[in-house]
Order: sequence, then C-alpha cells, then structure tokens
Amino acid sequence: MGRLDPHQVREDFPLLRRKIRGRPLVYFDNAATTLKPRQVIEAIVDFYENHYSNVFRGVHTLSQEATDMYEEARETVAKFIGAKDAKEVIFTLNATDSINAVAYGWGFYNVNEGDEIVVTIMEHHSNTLPWMRIAELKKAKLLYADIKDDGTLNYDQLLDMISERTRIVAITQMSNVLGTINDISAVVKRAHEVGAIVVVDGAQSVPHMKTDVRALDADFLAFSGHKMLAPTGIGVLWGKAELLEEMRPFRLGGGAIKEVELYSVTYEDLPLRFEAGTPNIVGAIGLKEAVEYLNKIGMDEVRRHEMELVSFTLKLFKEELADKVEVYGPLDPSIRGGIISYNVKGYDPHLVGTLLDSFGIAVRTGKHCAHPLHKRLGVEGTVRASYYIYNTKEEVEYMVNVIKEMLKALE
Ligand SMILES: Cc1ncc(COP(=O)(O)O)c(C=O)c1O
Repeated sequence: MGRLDPHQVREDFPLLRRKIRGRPLVYFDNAATTLKPRQVIEAIVDFYENHYSNVFRGVHTLSQEATDMYEEARETVAKFIGAKDAKEVIFTLNATDSINAVAYGWGFYNVNEGDEIVVTIMEHHSNTLPWMRIAELKKAKLLYADIKDDGTLNYDQLLDMISERTRIVAITQMSNVLGTINDISAVVKRAHEVGAIVVVDGAQSVPHMKTDVRALDADFLAFSGHKMLAPTGIGVLWGKAELLEEMRPFRLGGGAIKEVELYSVTYEDLPLRFEAGTPNIVGAIGLKEAVEYLNKIGMDEVRRHEMELVSFTLKLFKEELADKVEVYGPLDPSIRGGIISYNVKGYDPHLVGTLLDSFGIAVRTGKHCAHPLHKRLGVEGTVRASYYIYNTKEEVEYMVNVIKEMLKALE
C-alpha cells in the first residue's frame, strides 16, 4: 500500500471520462453518493452472468454459490469495521433504513413516557426524524445538543444533557454539512454511565476513515454502501450482538424465521432475522468489491488524501476569496472530513451550483437534509463540495478559479 495517487485511481472510474457541457466532469458530490470503479461494476456483471440466484432458499448449485458470496460479503464488511462477529452485520437498504430499524426495533420497546432521546443539531434528517417519531409515540422528549460557532459540537452541553432519563443518544460521526468529526468515545462513556445506548450515524465517516467498532464502543452504527463505491440499495446496520439479540425485527416476512405457527413465530438467529424478504444480493456483492477496493488503498490513505484536499481548499479560499466566500465548519482539517460547505457572499447557493455545473463541476446545493442545522447557521442553504479518492488538487484549483471568474463576470 503506497501513497494514494488520485490520478491513478481515476483510471478505474469510467464516469470520470464523461464530459459535462463540453468540459471534463469534476465530481464534488461524494457526500451524496460516490462514483463506482470498474472493479465493482465488473463484479456485479460477473455475478449476474455466472452465479445469479436467490439466497438461503435452494439446494441447487447456483443458490448455494449466491448464498456463499452473500455471506462472504458480510464477512468482508465485518472485518472492515472491526466487528467481533459477522453476525453483528445486518444488510439493510441504506443508513436511513438502518437507523429506522433501531428506532422501531429497539427504541420503540425501550423508550417510555418521560424518557429522553438526545441528538445533535448537526444531524442529517435520517438521524432525527425516526427519533422524533419514537419520542412522539412513546411520549418521550427529544433533546438537541448545539454546536459552537466554530462548527464543532458543544460537548459540555451534550454531556450535561445526558442524564438518568436518557435512553438513546443518536449522533453522527461526521457532519454531512460542516464536515465536523465528532469525538464519539466521550459521548459513549457518558451515555453508558447512565445506561443509555449510543447510535452512531456513520454515513459520512465509514467511507472516509478507518472504523473500529470495538474501539468506538458505541452500540449501533449505520452506514450506506452507495457513499463508499458500492451500488445504491445496500446499507449496513452493525450492532453489539447482545443488543441485536434483544432488538425486535421491524420488517417481517420470509427468510427471517425458523418456525411459524398460526399465531406465533420463532425468528431466525442473527443476522438473518433482520433481513426478511429477498435481500439486495447484488448490492452486497458490489459492497464486498467496494470494501476490497478501499482496503487496497488503505483507509488511512483515504483520510490523509482528503485532509490534504481540505487544507488546500481552505488555503485557496483564504488567499484568493477571503472576503467573498464564507466557509462553514471547523477550519482545522484534523477534525474535519472531506466536506466543505460554503456560500459565495451575496449569491444564492443554487445559482452558484448551476453556474459551477456549466463548467462541469458537480456540487450539491441547498440544505442537505439538515434543516435545523441551516436554521442554526442562519442561512437558507449552502454550496457543498465533498471529496473522495479520485479528486485532485487541480480540480480544487479549477473550482476556485471558476468562482473567481464568475464573480468577475457578475460584479
Ligand atoms: C450524515 C448522513 N446520515 C444519513 C444519511 C442518509 O443516507 P442514505 O440516504 O444513504 O440513507 C446521509 C446521506 O446523505 C448522511 O449524510
């Protein structure tokens, strides 16, 4: 494993050959979803052409091959996140589905009237709305910990908020807007002292930094395959085995049971009891290949590369657009992932995004499924550039130059 060379990595991504409005595509929308390398595309084609069948349902050769490949994918993911056992890895649709599974499978049965669920103001809606619903159903209270003005979490307030009444703390490991990387261990320690569980939204962190669920010591971790080179429709819920054992499956049906009587059911063992219905077999095959691709690069290299791109962007913004661009989130790249949300002062973010698109640059604009955070920041929306392994300093430079040219033309 040498140093990540984005120019070499780019060769593996067919979509990067696309021209957008006559210009080479600059893909800066990786926090929304990433492009796919040909290795992942080929693994999917190979599966369809040579092994495709349903899983766990047949004695025939193809079904056994498909089942083995599906389970190998689970093993690969388990190793990637440092899980104790592959049975702690549940395949879901995406991070949203994973969080809903915990909300309805654990939260619904363990949160009672007067209890509290603690989240933060920087959460994606996927990590607030399920908890809002559980709080409403169970007459519990939903509490939001604030951020500081520098875009970091207000830990003092958050830790104070966690009390004997807290049942669940749901927190993102990396903000999809601010890029802030949260110190989960401090939160876990306090939550466990009062007997609460910690649900970590890893949608932005798992694809971009090394994950070790045992070191993290949280209780559940949710993430999506499509944000880490894999196809859409495959996600992961990791949970500590003892908690998964006491959690109830919220999606019920075929494949998740051992025995069904007219009025009762015995569920399958972990993890299959949470995977009712035909799962996204092809997605799991793609996810395995994606994880292997990332393993070859090394997650520390992924992180190093993105830190470099973030430092470079912040430097260029400061040197060349200091009074023209406002950046949100921490300025220290050691606590910030490869996400830079900003506004060009005086210009609507959608206009900026549209103008960038006319130069081939794909960014996301708007509130990024984090309305309460944007209210807290006092802005209607932001432009978000989010990086991955195939992005280069030249592309960052290009974006900054395009903004400069745009301003020249508009002013
Ligand atoms: C922090 C965070 N959590 C959750 C999600 C939801 O991911 P998905 O749409 O794949 O379920 C996202 C997606 O943008 C995210 O950024």
